[in-house]
This record gives sequence, C-alpha cells and structure tokens, in this order.
Amino acid sequence: MNDRIHNFSAGPSALPTAVMQEMQEGLLSYRGSGMSVMEMSHRGDLFMGIIEEARTRIKRLYGLSDDYEVLFVHGGASLQFAMIPMNFIGEGQIAEYIETGTWSTKAIAEARIQNKGVRVAASSGDREFCYIPKVSDISADAPFVHMTTNNTVRGTQWHDLPDTGGVPLIADMSSDILSRPLDVSPFGMIYGGAQKNMGPSGTAVVILRRDMVEKIPQTLPTMLSYRTYVDKESMFNTPATFPIYAISLVTKWLEETMGGLAAVEAVNKRKAGALYTLIDEDDFYCGTADKASRSLMNVTFRLKDRELEPLFVEQSLASGLAGLKGHKSVGGIRASIYNAVSEASVAALCEFMNDFRRKHR
Ligand SMILES: Cc1ncc(COP(=O)(O)O)c(C=O)c1O
Repeated sequence: MNDRIHNFSAGPSALPTAVMQEMQEGLLSYRGSGMSVMEMSHRGDLFMGIIEEARTRIKRLYGLSDDYEVLFVHGGASLQFAMIPMNFIGEGQIAEYIETGTWSTKAIAEARIQNKGVRVAASSGDREFCYIPKVSDISADAPFVHMTTNNTVRGTQWHDLPDTGGVPLIADMSSDILSRPLDVSPFGMIYGGAQKNMGPSGTAVVILRRDMVEKIPQTLPTMLSYRTYVDKESMFNTPATFPIYAISLVTKWLEETMGGLAAVEAVNKRKAGALYTLIDEDDFYCGTADKASRSLMNVTFRLKDRELEPLFVEQSLASGLAGLKGHKSVGGIRASIYNAVSEASVAALCEFMNDFRRKHR
C-alpha cells in the first residue's frame, strides 16, 4: 500500500487501511454470496447481520444500556440540525444552544428558520471561537441544551461537559465521535456525520435516549421523525447500506484492532501531543485555539509569517501529506488527526514541519 498518502483531510477523511482492504476483498462477493454489499437486499439476512453488527458494536464501544437506540439517519449531520428542533422543541419551549463556531451556528440557524424558541446560552464568538465558553444559567424548562463537542473548523474541543442541571444534552459529535470514552448519562441524543471517524459521508449515526422519543410530535413528515427510525429500526426506506457496512467494519477495527475507546484516546492524545509540542517550541508556528480548549482531532495553527502558508501547503503535499489547508472561512493550517490517522502519519507531518521551520526561519 505504498501509494497511500498521509491524509489529514477534515472530512471525508482517512479510513483505516485494514478496513479498506477488507471492503476490497469482499467487494465483488461478500462472504461468498456472489454479490457486493451494494447489490444486496437491505431486508436479506446478510445485510440485517451487517446493520445489527454496526449497532451492537457502537453500543458496546460506548457501553450503552438498552435505554439508548442507535439509528442510521440520512442527510449527514446537517439534516439533524433541522430535525432536532422539529422533533424536540415544543410549542412555547425555548431550547438552549451553545455557540462555538461554524457548525453550532448552522444548528442554531436551522432552529430559527422554523421559528422555534432558541436562546444562545453561551458563545465564544467574542474571540473568534478560539475557546470553549463557560456555561451557567441553563433554564430548567429548556427541552435540551445543544452543543458541538469538537469544533472542526476552529480546532477547539470540550474536555469537560457543561453542567445543564439535568436538562438533556444534545451533542453534535461529528468530528470526535468514538474518539474517546464517554459518560453518556447526561445525553438525550448524540449524533455525528459518518465521514470523519466512522465511514463514508451522507449518513449520520444518531444515539437517542428512549425517553426523548416520547416527546416527538405525531405530525412530522415520516422521514423527518426520529420515531420512524426507532420504530422501523432505521429501515423505513432503503438505508445507506454501504456506509453502514463501512461503519460495521470501522467499529470492529476500533474494538478488535485498537482495543476500545480508552486505547484509542491514548493514541489520539499522543498524536495531538506531538503536534502541539512542536508548535509550542517557538513562535514559528502558532496554535489558534486557547491551550485549555485545544482539540485532539483538529490541530489548527498559523505560521508567524502568513505569506509562507501557501508554500507550506504546497510543499507538504509534494512530501506526501494531504489535506492540511485550513478551512476556507479561517485560513491557516489544519491537521485533522482522526482515529484512522496513524502515529506514523503524524510523525511524518512532524518531520516535515521541523524541516520547513529549519529552512524558513
Ligand atoms: C462538527 C460538524 N458538524 C456538522 C458537520 C456537517 O456534516 P455533514 O456534511 O454530514 O452535514 C461537520 C462537517 O464537517 C462538522 O464538522
């Protein structure tokens, strides 16, 4: 596999090479069936086994009790931004949203489009979302508090959950889902687009606490109600079969090769630690997030001489390191180091960064 690049793309992102090889082996004939997973009925035993495996492995990785449903929902994370207010903000209710950058802002906008009651409970917009804000004064009447656990664009991440006084948290975990162990008890719902830590884009994994289902109005269009996905086990219509297959393989890899989420977190800490240590050595590179809020998934930084940034991106690509250009809205450099990005890839990036610094200091 010498032609695989070191892939630091923010999403869609690197998948484990072993998972890609397993997909390749079964591409034309999955388990001797003579068919690809893409070609088989979603109601047949083979696919039913795949979706059940994906569900079970996610439940096991997070230690979820039977109080939680694992759903596969179309439309990626962005459709969840629209579905959450439809499903969970009732007449006269005001939901609390925490604003920590691009994706949280989009989630808020989707609730406002629907004329739903929304309050921004805390924001880090005063300093370009470079930190995780303190949260207080959550209304006990709020149906939920919405947060984005990892802010892909700004490179910040929550390291402790906010105190919501028992109001259920709904969390967009698109860019750090399954990257560390989690106490799920404060969460009414967790969701994430698959394309960073789980598989191909277009599908979201939704983990929903059963008591949330009771709050869903009966009047929603069928496909926009989470109740449909619960009642029909994510098979009201044809689910995204191949992405779900990929999720089953990635979660198998997380359990069997990586050894579970505590082990995954330890690797993720080592990878991020290596990059942040290098960045902090002098002022050639400069991290954009406050140290206490730094993300283990998206390492964002600038070069002191910003005019060197295009050269950094160009030369990194020439050295076999892809996807390092920062999000178009903020510029700079971003190394996305999700679960499937190996320590060897991070070491290659560190070597390049040291070398670049030596030449351009
Ligand atoms: C934190 C976060 N939320 C939501 C999204 C949007 O995901 P999707 O493209 O699946 O709608 C992204 C995509 O990068 C993201 O990083």
